[in-house]
Amino acid sequence: EKGGYDYFMLKEIAEQPKAVADTLLGRIDAAGSLTLDEVRIGAAELRELDKVVIVACGTAFHAGLIAKYAIEHWTRLPCEVELASEFRYRDPILDPRSLVVAISQSGETMDTLMALRHAREQGSKVLAICNTNGSTIPRESDAVLYTHAGPEVAVASTKAFLTQLVACYLVALYLGQVRGTKWGDEIRAVIRDLSRISGAVERVLETMEPVRALARSLAGKKTVLFLGRHVGYPVALEGALKLKELAYMHAEGFAAGELKHGPIALIEEDLPVVVVVPSPRGRSVLHDKIVSNIQEIRARGARTIVIAEEGDDAVVPYADHLIRIPVTPTLLQPLVSTVPLQVFACELATARGNEVDQPRNLAKSVTVE
Ligand code: M6R
Repeated sequence: EKGGYDYFMLKEIAEQPKAVADTLLGRIDAAGSLTLDEVRIGAAELRELDKVVIVACGTAFHAGLIAKYAIEHWTRLPCEVELASEFRYRDPILDPRSLVVAISQSGETMDTLMALRHAREQGSKVLAICNTNGSTIPRESDAVLYTHAGPEVAVASTKAFLTQLVACYLVALYLGQVRGTKWGDEIRAVIRDLSRISGAVERVLETMEPVRALARSLAGKKTVLFLGRHVGYPVALEGALKLKELAYMHAEGFAAGELKHGPIALIEEDLPVVVVVPSPRGRSVLHDKIVSNIQEIRARGARTIVIAEEGDDAVVPYADHLIRIPVTPTLLQPLVSTVPLQVFACELATARGNEVDQPRNLAKSVTVE
């Protein structure tokens, strides 16, 4: 049932192009508009919203952090993202004009379920993004957008994460489409790019051998740091979470702009630091700032592992290891930049002799608070 792979995780990583394509299937019409009939919250009500609040845990929370950039950019609606376990205990401000989006692969995570119950008690509508048909979270929500990743068996989430991102982009673009924003042309262009993105995920998977070799060479390390900016920041958090779960290593993700506010003190000789570089097109100012960050940490001895777009030559002089990803629109980059981090963590776990599919102390779905 592992389809020839040694671990479910490897199989699930390989299934990502299909999972992404399946999650888009039937949701983009021939004219290039989104048809999300499943979002049974009427257009009038969606136009009345004054904020979006995302609740989730772990990897799903990282998908939510990325969704915030997309939702705020394409809809101009304020979007908060909150760990489900913190949410209801701080008396959050919610009313019928707040749309609460609960993201969960399993649909059974107790913290997320309790958060959505709390939101509904305040009169907010809840939209679930979920991978498991008929599970508790979608049953208790007002509407559900299913991710079509297929069953995810490995405890460490991979294909579910990519499909959660796709679902979040769909929600953001749909809200933009229904509410109408000045980004109409960009929204249409991004819908087109999204419809082709599974090919880019496929291309990343074809180039992962050097990432595996690099991971094996780092098996004796104690710490790996991850840096990113903009949507690359949650990707850094996700890369660090994968490494903790699978390799049992100390791994931390930071916003690259925070380096000089503290984390740079951690840099020492030969410390591996993975840097997720934003596209040099689009928000190029961020790109240039992160290139300076790479220079700064390398000058202090870090071993830089740089994930950058094909054709981005500015990073070459400062990268001890360079991992190339296909060119994508800025907001969609996490769909390709996360993949090498999954492969990296999986290979490091294997090299350290860890149980890949069933890491110690963890359960696939956390049904207690
Ligand atoms: O089933 P859920 O998406 O609600 O699960 C949330 C987290 O428990 C989950 O993403 C966890 O962080 C994974 N093990 C990450 O790989």
